[in-house]
Amino acid sequence: MRLGSHLLAFSLLVTAAWAADGGVDVEVFEMNCASCHGVDGRAKTPQGRKLKARDLRESRMTDPELRQRIREGSRTAAGVWLMPSFGDKLKPDEIEAAMRHAKTFRPADKPVP
Ligand code: HEC
Repeated sequence: MRLGSHLLAFSLLVTAAWAADGGVDVEVFEMNCASCHGVDGRAKTPQGRKLKARDLRESRMTDPELRQRIREGSRTAAGVWLMPSFGDKLKPDEIEAAMRHAKTFRPADKPVP
């Protein structure tokens, strides 16, 4: 029993540390966004270059714009997909997590709106 409660306390601690560190945000971003935008947000991946994904350091989208973009994705005028839509794939809190992490790439002197 004692071992059980120690293990529980330990795993709660690890989970708390991971969450405080933005662990969830990083994981959601890396699983869903990094194939194009890169783990550094610079979009220098093969797929990012091919599709001309945006360097997220340069993005100045507001939170509502970001949410909408992640939910709906983006297409060319001719209807060709550029960025996939995540509205059916991610839960609302995962969309928030991806958004939070996407904003961390912005330089400190150009703060998030
Ligand atoms: C298949 C490649 C791909 C994936 C995966 C992808 N994106 Fe994109 N993203 C793009 C492309 C291409 C653009 C630029 C096209 C455009 O702006 O219409 C873009 C643009 C953006 C922009 C707009 C930046 C600006 O200010 O104009 C944001 C923000 C963004 N992506 C965030 C994300 C997030 C967050 C995820 C993960 C949930 C993600 N993207 C996943 C390809 C991708």
